[in-house]
Amino acid sequence: MTNVTAATASDDAARDRPIPPMPSTPWWRSAVIYQVYIRSFADGDGDGTGDIAGLRSRLGYLRDLGVDAIWINPWYSSPLADGGYDVADYFAIDDRFGTVAEAEAFIADAHDHGIRVILDLVPNHTSDQHRWFQEALADPSSPARQRYHFSAGRDGGPPNNWRSVFGGPAWTQLADGSWYLHLFDPSQPDLNWDNDEVRANFLDVLRFWLDHGADGFRVDVAHGLVKHPEMPDVDAYGPVVHVVDSDDHPHWDRDEIHDIVREWRAVVDHYDGAVLVAEAWVHPDRLANYVRSDEYHQSFNFSFLETPWDAAALRSVIDESMRALSQVGASNTWVLSNHDVVRHATRFGLPDPARWRAWLRESDPSEPDRDIGQRRARAAALLLLSLPGAAYLYQGEELGLDEVWDLDDSVRDDPVWFRSHHTDRGRDGCRVPIPWTATGPSFGFGDAVAWLPQPPEFATLAAEVQAGDEASMLELYRTALALRRRHLSDDESFEWLASDPSVLSYRRGGVTCVINLGDEAAPLPRGEIIISSGDVHDGLLGTDTAVWVRA
Ligand code: NOJ
Repeated sequence: MTNVTAATASDDAARDRPIPPMPSTPWWRSAVIYQVYIRSFADGDGDGTGDIAGLRSRLGYLRDLGVDAIWINPWYSSPLADGGYDVADYFAIDDRFGTVAEAEAFIADAHDHGIRVILDLVPNHTSDQHRWFQEALADPSSPARQRYHFSAGRDGGPPNNWRSVFGGPAWTQLADGSWYLHLFDPSQPDLNWDNDEVRANFLDVLRFWLDHGADGFRVDVAHGLVKHPEMPDVDAYGPVVHVVDSDDHPHWDRDEIHDIVREWRAVVDHYDGAVLVAEAWVHPDRLANYVRSDEYHQSFNFSFLETPWDAAALRSVIDESMRALSQVGASNTWVLSNHDVVRHATRFGLPDPARWRAWLRESDPSEPDRDIGQRRARAAALLLLSLPGAAYLYQGEELGLDEVWDLDDSVRDDPVWFRSHHTDRGRDGCRVPIPWTATGPSFGFGDAVAWLPQPPEFATLAAEVQAGDEASMLELYRTALALRRRHLSDDESFEWLASDPSVLSYRRGGVTCVINLGDEAAPLPRGEIIISSGDVHDGLLGTDTAVWVRA
């Protein structure tokens, strides 16, 4: 009997490397990029909120994990009405996070650790506290209003039926009777991208941060910048946040967006190795438009994220994505979790993982099955990290953190909670600060209680507790990242192998990856098992388990 426990291989040498010189294949095509939600990563100054000092103190952890780059959620000056996606000054760091000098020193230090740094660009809207919006409010006849979308309205009401992604109408009326557009919170007025000053300003923002050492930008709401010039009603509103599949929506995925991206790309191309990454919730066929050779380098594959734990559905989304993106020569960008969605360890333990949005609105939410969720999350990690292309990890997934779905209502902070009149629990549950140690007021997050309370179970999931335990999620990720670098990163080849319909089996160069999503044990291919997400017995792979096998 062969018993192989998870994460058997170790590869310290592969983890310990500086940023390599630019190879012929650009670094980002197969990179592993770790998302840092800065408020919740590590608190260096003891005020309960994460910051640059805390993040800097954890660079060794990120290097040892083996990631190529990090993407940091917005750290700019902001009222934090939407966690920083409401920017008051794009050229300043919020006091709670640090200073521009600290940011610059941090980026240099990250580079010394072999880690590139991608920032978040928020071009669809500003904060209502931004100087531009304040100028627009001050004088109804001011040209400052042209930087945003103001309107006199229609028949005494808003100009159209557009809805805010966070709930309620997308228009707010001012005391002077005029309306302004906000696809998100009323404190996030949408910018008018037909305005030359708006366009010029963001080119300055790009240059400012690239000159401070940044390696690129993840672009917020990349599919929303341009609105239909006549602002017609939306014909039929489905769920407001979803993967858009339409080529003529009045405010999502309009073709004019691509001219703007080309202007940005021309700037970014002056900086060696810098990248643009689109947050565009669109169907793979339309996603391909965003990653044409003179536009974004990458665009998150949200169709993959939205796919339930089902072999046929996953096979089809993988095929569809690879087909669509290969037509423009782009590589795929796989992702399972981020700061906007229910953590996948919890999603996969729901009675219907695809209905996680509805679950957030249940008044008496059904309890997720934690064992199933964890087992699938381990298998999903080996799926994510073995597909050809780049992979994004969300902080804490390497610790197997669950969604904290039972936060007390009194601590909720997400505008979704408020805009939905307390009917949608929103995104706070995936933003609870990271546990680093088993003890302390915030499990090593900092010296104070964290801004969102951590549940007691976080003590057992702390990074310090998992490190060195080869059965832990952390060691699974560390080992998988090292093995990926050694065996999978240089080669984008991919070939499906024959298997039972409930099993995903494919070859990547010399490695065969098998993920069993069925109820029955599945046969293993011949060869050396270099990693498995769970125990393997007698040449059989159990339910919800994955392996990588070397011929
Ligand atoms: C997408 C971001 O990921 C999300 O957190 C934010 O609320 C909206 N865009 C609005 O900026």
